[in-house]
Amino acid sequence: MEITREKALTLFKNYVDSESLIKHCLAVEGAMRGCAQHYNEDVEIWGVCGLLHDIDFQKWPHNHLEMAPKILKEAGYPQDFIQAILGHGDFTLVARDTQMAKCLYAVDQMASFTIAVALMRPTGLEGMTAKSVKKKMKDKAFARAVDRNEMQKGADELGMDIGDLISLVIEALQKRELELNAMEISMM
Ligand SMILES: [Fe+2]
Repeated sequence: MEITREKALTLFKNYVDSESLIKHCLAVEGAMRGCAQHYNEDVEIWGVCGLLHDIDFQKWPHNHLEMAPKILKEAGYPQDFIQAILGHGDFTLVARDTQMAKCLYAVDQMASFTIAVALMRPTGLEGMTAKSVKKKMKDKAFARAVDRNEMQKGADELGMDIGDLISLVIEALQKRELELNAMEISMM
């Protein structure tokens, strides 16, 4: 099966209609596209991996990533793709043995955290640097739900400096914002 954003979006819409989850998945999609570009990999496939990574989260929040393999397999996604998605949950104990899997893990929390920081700024993502994200990482009261150790671990697994990873994510999210404005979020 050819992996395309169009097909992925159809599948996505069958399982996700929560606005916050849609936003999260679109952000992770954008970040994954940025990573693919960085590593010279397939932007469309990596983006789709980001888009679909939480496919079962809304319907089965207590069994997250239990249904996802079945849903994705039936839709024709290959095993390495499914493995990468399973790998973004530490609790699945599925090894992140591809670059795509490592990136997904690294950007999942990072994308949400970066957006949370941007929302505190009058200009949002515009003109934002890694420094403001790093500063907020030290602020324990801010976005408490985001595990800072996990953010650091994601960068470490990639062998990337966390500041560089943050910059990559910011840039990808800025681009994503422009793309989404152009596509109109209403299409979701
Ligand atoms: Fe996620």
